[in-house]
Amino acid sequence: MKILLAYSSKTKNTKKVAESIYEQIKDQAEVDLLDIKKQRKKIEKEYDFYILGAWTDKTNANKNMQRFVDQQEIHGKDVALFLTCGVPREHYHADDSINNYIAFMEERNNKIHETFVCQGKVDPKVMIVFKILAWHDPNFIHKVTPDLVDMVKESKKHPNLKDLEDAQICFKNLLEHKITHATV
Ligand SMILES: Cc1cc2nc3c(=O)[nH]c(=O)nc-3n(C[C@H](O)[C@H](O)[C@H](O)COP(=O)(O)O)c2cc1C
Repeated sequence: MKILLAYSSKTKNTKKVAESIYEQIKDQAEVDLLDIKKQRKKIEKEYDFYILGAWTDKTNANKNMQRFVDQQEIHGKDVALFLTCGVPREHYHADDSINNYIAFMEERNNKIHETFVCQGKVDPKVMIVFKILAWHDPNFIHKVTPDLVDMVKESKKHPNLKDLEDAQICFKNLLEHKITHATV
C-alpha cells in the first residue's frame, strides 16, 4: 500500500508528530513523508491512503493544508487526519478543531479512517498578537485571559514523549487493523 504522510508545520510541533508516525509505520507500508511547503507542483504519484497533519488555526487545519488538499485534489480518498493545537487534548476547542477539519475533508468526499490530536507549544509571539488584536477589536475571539496564559505555559511541554508515543500507537493500529480491508 502506498501512503502519503504530508504535514504543515510552522514551528515544528506537527513536524515532530509526523516524523514519529513515519518512524513507526515506514516498515508497515510504502510511506512518503512530505512537508507540504516544499511541494509546489501537482504530485504525479498515485497513493492508496493519505495521512494529513496540520497545526490548528481558527479552530481548523491551517489554510496551507486546506489549500494543499484542493491543489492536490485529495478528494474522494481514504484518509487519516492529525492536528496539533494550542489547547490540551481534553479541551472542547481541540474537539471543535478536529471536527471542523473532518467536515472540511468530508465535504470533499473523503473517507476518514482515523484522527489524532495533541497539544503543541504555542509560539509566545502569538500572545502578543492576540493582545493587540483584542485591544483593537473587543469582539476578537482569543481574549488573553489568565486561563489562556496558563494554557500557553502548559503548552511549552508539548508535544512530549507521551504525545509522540500515542501518535505512534494510533497509526500503528490504523495500519494493522483498520485500513488493510478498507482500501486496496
Ligand atoms: C497564528 C496562530 C494561530 C493559532 N490559532 C490557534 C487556534 O485557533 N487554536 C489552537 O488550538 N491553536 C492555535 N494556535 C496554536 C498552534 O496551532 C499550535 O501551537 C501548533 O502546535 C503549532 O504547530 P507547528 O509547530 O507545527 O506550527 C495558533 C498558532 C498561531 C501561530
